[in-house]
Amino acid sequence: MRLEFSHCGIDMIQLIRGFKDILPGEVELWQKIERVARELFEDFGYREIRIPIMERTELFKRSIGEDTDIVEKEMYTFPDRKGDLVTLRPEATASICRAFIQHKLYSQDPVQKYYMIGPMFRRERPQKGRYRQFYQIDAEIFGVQSGLADVQLIFLLVTLCKRLNLADVRAHINSLGCPRCRPAFKKALTDYLVSIEGDLCPDCIRRRNRNPLRVLDCKVPKCREALIGAPSLQDHLCEGCRIDFDLVMDSLNRLGVSFVIDKQLVRGLDYYTRTAFEIQTTSLGAQSAVAGGGRYDNLVKELGGPDIPATGFAIGFDRLAELVALNSRELIQVPDVFVAALGADSQKSAFEWVCELGTGGIRVEMDYGNKSLKSQMKRADRLGARYVLIVGDDELKSGSAALRNMATKEQVSVSLDNLVDNIRSQLETTNS
Ligand code: HAM
Repeated sequence: MRLEFSHCGIDMIQLIRGFKDILPGEVELWQKIERVARELFEDFGYREIRIPIMERTELFKRSIGEDTDIVEKEMYTFPDRKGDLVTLRPEATASICRAFIQHKLYSQDPVQKYYMIGPMFRRERPQKGRYRQFYQIDAEIFGVQSGLADVQLIFLLVTLCKRLNLADVRAHINSLGCPRCRPAFKKALTDYLVSIEGDLCPDCIRRRNRNPLRVLDCKVPKCREALIGAPSLQDHLCEGCRIDFDLVMDSLNRLGVSFVIDKQLVRGLDYYTRTAFEIQTTSLGAQSAVAGGGRYDNLVKELGGPDIPATGFAIGFDRLAELVALNSRELIQVPDVFVAALGADSQKSAFEWVCELGTGGIRVEMDYGNKSLKSQMKRADRLGARYVLIVGDDELKSGSAALRNMATKEQVSVSLDNLVDNIRSQLETTNS
């Protein structure tokens, strides 16, 4: 735990390393992204699913794969009080598959489309764009064998980026083959790995025999360099995978989605088959992947469900928000009206009007203390209030108060009867 001494000498508890607060001022951007994403997904028939933050460790081991960095090094796993091993979810796909199987969701309609938004946990080395609690916006399609489902997902990602005015993003795609074409590829890759053994890190040497594809995902610079000449899955695809990948490329072209074929793209999770993809950017330094996903045709079956193909993606919400923030002005919520009250009676009435205006859908603020008019006006100005309603005992008696437009400095008198409607019509005149 990191402690610091506050000004009064008491230990102050700081955030856990790699975790972060999303503060007001920043949160508005997250809300906007979430609104745009939800609307887009729902227009395409995706329904929200909410899954638990914690699952049995076995679920992630079996789906993500025992030899992956996530399972080997990054999961927050601990025994609960009865000794059962549980894990804070490092991703959503495994849990969504578990729910899909457990609740027999496939019996409702052969095609199921879901999205979810929420926090994930991986104990990675923290740096900009990489956190130990981070957020994902996830979408999954179950029950479609055709590569058109992958194309729809990539199209949704690109469309979301467009709606958020992001220019510097590019789809990278690759095919990771299927159990039919993998054995020949694995053999070619293992032979190659033997030939460069001296340049590989201990993790890669260990993984070479158990799971050679994982070696292609190693982040160690020396390994990456040595892997440049490694055989590519693209050159070993079986006919079915080749036809499917051609369909994906052709359909993306027809939709005008630009992409690069990235033979190095293998993804960090074991469950992928056929098309895998990422949305990458050059604007976020080392953390170039804003979103990643792909097809996982065998996972539902491997987790004990029926033989149902699936595909999906997850967007790194933190990274997306950082990218959107680079391109947009601050989204601060400003009050429509600040009620400045002078005197005890006006304060009481002001408090009630604030409740009325707020429930009437007008964004409202007041000062809860007994401050001077000057200091209330100053605060209204600092908050960026569009109008200030100034009420003292005289106004209360006369039944009308001054409404000051903070931009033009003009004041009009508004009746305190029907205050919500009167203020709303003033706001509408300035909006029009
Ligand atoms: P993933 O590539 O591990 O895939 O993660 C997806 C995205 O989450 C990444 O592209 C990145 O933007 C973000 N991300 C991952 N780790 C961190 C981190 N430590 N800090 C910040 N952002 C991070 C999956 O999770 C798969 N479940 C995607 C999927 C869904 N495949 C099929 N369906």
